[in-house]
Amino acid sequence: MYRTLAIATSILAVAHGQLAGTQQTETHPGMTWQQCTAKGSCQTKNGKIVLDSNWRWLHTKSGYDNCYTGNEWNSTLCADNKSCATNCALDGADYRGTYGITASGNSLQLKFVTEGSYSTNIGSRTYMMKDDSTYEMFKLAPDREFTFDVDLSNLPCGLNGALYFVSMDADGGMKKYSSNKAGAKYGTGYCDAQCPRDLKFINGEGNVEGWQQSSNDQNAGVGNHGSCCAEMDIWEANSVSTAVTPHSCSTIGQTRCDGDGCGGTYSSDRYAGLCDPDGCDFNSYRMGDTTFYGKGKIVDTSKKFTVVTQFVGNGESMEIKRFYVQNGEVIPNSQSKIEGVEGNSITTQFCDAQKQAFGDTYTFKEKGGMANMAKALEGGMVLVMSLWDDHYANMLWLDSTYPTDKDPSTPGVGRGECETTSGVPADVESQSASASVTYSNIRVGPLNSTFG
Ligand SMILES: *[C@@H]1O[C@H](CO)[C@@H](O)[C@H](O)[C@H]1NC(C)=O
Ligand SMILES: *[C@@H]1O[C@H](CO)[C@@H](O)[C@H](O)[C@H]1NC(C)=O
Ligand SMILES: *[C@@H]1O[C@H](CO)[C@@H](O)[C@H](O)[C@H]1NC(C)=O
Repeated sequence: MYRTLAIATSILAVAHGQLAGTQQTETHPGMTWQQCTAKGSCQTKNGKIVLDSNWRWLHTKSGYDNCYTGNEWNSTLCADNKSCATNCALDGADYRGTYGITASGNSLQLKFVTEGSYSTNIGSRTYMMKDDSTYEMFKLAPDREFTFDVDLSNLPCGLNGALYFVSMDADGGMKKYSSNKAGAKYGTGYCDAQCPRDLKFINGEGNVEGWQQSSNDQNAGVGNHGSCCAEMDIWEANSVSTAVTPHSCSTIGQTRCDGDGCGGTYSSDRYAGLCDPDGCDFNSYRMGDTTFYGKGKIVDTSKKFTVVTQFVGNGESMEIKRFYVQNGEVIPNSQSKIEGVEGNSITTQFCDAQKQAFGDTYTFKEKGGMANMAKALEGGMVLVMSLWDDHYANMLWLDSTYPTDKDPSTPGVGRGECETTSGVPADVESQSASASVTYSNIRVGPLNSTFG
């Protein structure tokens, strides 16, 4: 919920800025998935994986000088937003060698830290494509379900293996913004409900003017523009905690925002923007069942398991249901044990009650709530699979006591068993460099068609 962007690398490779580069050919790894029409009746689709543009080598179109090094722009090539886009090119990616991304059959593994020949890469963000220039647009409502297998046995405190959906443009914004020549092929056009301001390009322009280097992330900074859109977090998790979280936006599709008016993690006023940065989350531990999810628990994260998410009904009354399947057994989501909050699914009533019980800010409703989330899901969203660490809140909002100065027995404060000192990026990047997550066996279809 307090999402922050993963980290771009200081890369010495070539790509097309908002142009496309030619040093390294862009070859999208293949990943199959299944479209089901009824139980036992599924068709295999040949999807492809693309790495987000922020991770790519950005260099001058006429040669190999970096347009961006570490967390700084080259002031000649990127003197302003517009010239940066015409001077710089994003290059192709060596998925395995530089980024630790390996696709095989129906599975995708993301490694946390990858030592390449020219760079150290931290985490990654990838999208499912329909073909080499278009993202797959998944329609998940009404009355549909999304299922995948996950192995996060090797994902400790402080890391987040996230599988989620955002309302990006299918072509990465190429048609809308003629200065974006790279498009979905190079992973452009990202947006989410934090209205991220760490993106190097938004709407075909550099995010150069007003860029401030991060104080604790040598690869990242925050610019004056952000990129908003609706976000459905099916899965944000490590081996200790997990959350499923819809984030509504008053404007669903990708929309550029300005400065602190963006709201979200990167802005001084978190609630100033078009989107709901907190979401309405269901984290079993936070909802009072500390025995349900984790290593050796009912959903045993020391082994692979299946995650089913259903979107039942429509509009304001849509219900988001969760099942797990492990060792052939279907396990319904844990029930809330919080006084005044009932059930094991996310509905408008659940959000009303949970926000009140926890005393949380309730922006989900203000930004259109379940009705706008349902509209986003019906309209088609892009599948994101990522692995990241958290330079803003050490992932404590997911897996520890948060806020850290409160008693973990206060409703809503205890979110998982990780120490409040855990999740510091410098620590996890050195101590858990070999962490990884594997997503596999993606299936989409009508209710009850993909599992059981
Ligand atoms: C910035 O790019 C220009 C033009 O390619 C190059 O001459 C200059 O050396 C670069 N500056 C830095 C600090 O890399
Ligand atoms: C570049 O973006 C900034 C905001 O980040 C904006 O204030 C400025 O007007 C833009 N410049 C141009 C030339 O569009
Ligand atoms: C799906 O399965 C559940 C549990 O078996 C059942 O309660 C529900 O009615 C089914 N939904 C549909 C649409 O078949």
